[in-house]
Amino acid sequence: MASSLLTRQLTYTLQKNLKLSLPRGRYISQTATKNDVDFEYDGPSMKTEVPGPRSRNTGAVTFFCNYEESRGNYLVDVDGNRMLDLYCQISSIPIGYNHPALIKVLHDPTNVSTFVNRPALGVLPPENFPEKLTESLLSITPEGMNQVQTMACGSCSNENAFKTIFIWYRKKERGQVEITKEEQETCMINQSPGCPDYTIMSFMGGFHGRTMGCLAATHSKAIHKLDIPSLDWPIAPFPQLKYPLEDFIKENKLEEARCLEEVEDLIVKYRKKGKTVAGIVVEPIQSEGGDNHASDDFFRELREVVRKHGCAFLVDEVQTGGGCTGKFWAHEHWGLKDPGDIVSFSKKLQTGGYFYKDEFRPDAPYRIFNTWLGDPAKNLLLAEVINVINTEKLLDNVSRAGKVLLDGLLDLQTRYPHLVSRARGRGTFCSFDAPDDDKRNRMILKARNKGVVLGGCGEKSIRFRPALVFKEHHAHLFLNIFNDILADFK
Ligand SMILES: Cc1ncc(COP(=O)(O)O)c(C=O)c1O
Repeated sequence: MASSLLTRQLTYTLQKNLKLSLPRGRYISQTATKNDVDFEYDGPSMKTEVPGPRSRNTGAVTFFCNYEESRGNYLVDVDGNRMLDLYCQISSIPIGYNHPALIKVLHDPTNVSTFVNRPALGVLPPENFPEKLTESLLSITPEGMNQVQTMACGSCSNENAFKTIFIWYRKKERGQVEITKEEQETCMINQSPGCPDYTIMSFMGGFHGRTMGCLAATHSKAIHKLDIPSLDWPIAPFPQLKYPLEDFIKENKLEEARCLEEVEDLIVKYRKKGKTVAGIVVEPIQSEGGDNHASDDFFRELREVVRKHGCAFLVDEVQTGGGCTGKFWAHEHWGLKDPGDIVSFSKKLQTGGYFYKDEFRPDAPYRIFNTWLGDPAKNLLLAEVINVINTEKLLDNVSRAGKVLLDGLLDLQTRYPHLVSRARGRGTFCSFDAPDDDKRNRMILKARNKGVVLGGCGEKSIRFRPALVFKEHHAHLFLNIFNDILADFK
């Protein structure tokens, strides 16, 4: 199957599909022409409503996909509908569907054993794993961090990053003293001092995953949390910025100062009640919670506050990492030499995990451990993804395409102020607000039936999470289609 796909991809330029039906009412993109389509389709092609007859379903499944036929920015469904995918598997496809470079990795005979034999990585890693890590994760280490721990998904990365913080904090408090018998015994019955009453501070609107610890730090939607017991961990307000930013400079500064003050107050308040804040977790852009941005100054000051109080700073880049903001890590926009103590990742990086500073390395094996601890096969793919990002200069591409997308959204906001507001973004990590939840969901449905897959987030936002191979012409194509939808929207 894989080889037929590869053959087809290599010959694809000869059989470009020209079924694109041009949307009417074009205003933005007279320039919506492709100029660099390699193996991709020319545009969407819709045969049925989506979900179509072969996809009808219930629950969370949106539609069934034909991944063999999907390529580049285009996702094909089981009914043969081909859609421009601006959501990309919840922001987790780095360089488009079936990228030929990744298919080649699969065809390389020296990689076969890595794909076939998934090891218990923490105890029996393959011989070439350190070398492969150097080509992949260790080539993208955030400023100040030398260590990396791989994991399987975003939640398990954050969950273990929290544990790493607690172990570090306890070691700091305990000093050179030996671990006591009492600690050993009390930890077995979930009591202090063996299980200290440490906390992780998070922000209202944040999302860090769905496992028990992560869920205690997640505050985006009630449906994630309902009926699950949780922990009394402090929750700070995240700035609610007013848009357009240039009209609300003073108000937004005050709002950010208010939130920073609350962070400090909460650290003091929780320490007073014996619940030490060992660490603070934050997303550079709150994603699931509604694409909430704060200024670079806010994060720089937050970093200072966290350092001042001796807490660890965990930057959750599960959704923002991997290049979609125009820099490999979104925290690079803050321009700090010491942006954090731990940076967690997953999604576009194919493997989960976290980078951390030397001092956070646990002092004994098995303190951070599970059976798989990631997957060396994903690491092989990641090495190639990074290679493609560099050779195809995809971060520059993201900045260019993102500018077209955001300028277009700002333009739509001027044309349809009753439907589009608060257009915002960095790179292609863009979003806007619909008037309400119902209209937002109907916009997503209409777009899908016109051949564009979009995602929602927060109460009423639509988010853009295309792959890094999303180019200016794709942005124009989307803007034309969406303009038509808004022109007719009831
Ligand atoms: C910022 C952030 N952290 C953590 C997670 C959890 O990742 P996963 O769904 O892989 O467990 C997500 C998932 O959307 C996320 O956006």
